[in-house]
Amino acid sequence: MKIFIFIFILFATLYTVNTAPHQFYKRTTDFIRCNAAFPGLNVRTIPDPLVAGQNATFTVVGTQNYPIDQNKTILEISFHDDVKLATLYDKPFDKSFPPNTTFWIKASDVPVPSGFNETSLWTIMVTVSEWDPKLIFLACEISISY
Ligand SMILES: *[C@@H]1O[C@H](CO)[C@@H](O)[C@H](O)[C@H]1NC(C)=O
Ligand SMILES: *[C@@H]1O[C@H](CO)[C@@H](O)[C@H](O)[C@H]1NC(C)=O
Ligand SMILES: *[C@@H]1O[C@H](CO)[C@@H](O)[C@H](O)[C@H]1NC(C)=O
Ligand SMILES: *[C@@H]1O[C@H](CO)[C@@H](O)[C@H](O)[C@H]1NC(C)=O
Repeated sequence: MKIFIFIFILFATLYTVNTAPHQFYKRTTDFIRCNAAFPGLNVRTIPDPLVAGQNATFTVVGTQNYPIDQNKTILEISFHDDVKLATLYDKPFDKSFPPNTTFWIKASDVPVPSGFNETSLWTIMVTVSEWDPKLIFLACEISISY
């Protein structure tokens, strides 16, 4: 629940910051860095563009100066319909990575919401975070389709 609230707050912030310059039409899922305070991630999806109601594969690659801990660091992918959270997907890392190395994770069963439409008001947020014991936000990437 705390993750939901945190993500929602962060998302609300980003929403305000990012409402202006995204009026271009795009055919693929483009991710941009969420927030200058966190490193970005390299996010690829298969298929691209995503298909509503089907599972997608997300490959996420990044580097940052915290350790990535097996079973403890979590990849989270949330879909938001306008500002409403539609789906939340979590996957713990199945491998550990030392700080300052390139880490990667592949999530092959991410459900794309049935109402997903990349030409209307949807946002996809991809984060890497950890409870240690409070939430540490390690990296974040966002795709805004408006
Ligand atoms: C998506 O993946 C989940 C978990 O593997 C599976 O239960 C579900 O049937 C899949 N859905 C589709 C539409 O393939
Ligand atoms: C990782 O890199 C940062 C920035 O270059 C450096 O400050 C930090 O000490 C490094 N951490 C480790 C564990 O090597
Ligand atoms: C992570 O979970 C798996 C499966 O439960 C287990 O085999 C493994 O030892 C765990 N690793 C750590 C570092 O806790
Ligand atoms: C997606 O939304 C756009 C704009 O509202 C609409 O024109 C289009 O038909 C929708 N596509 C699907 C597949 O629902």
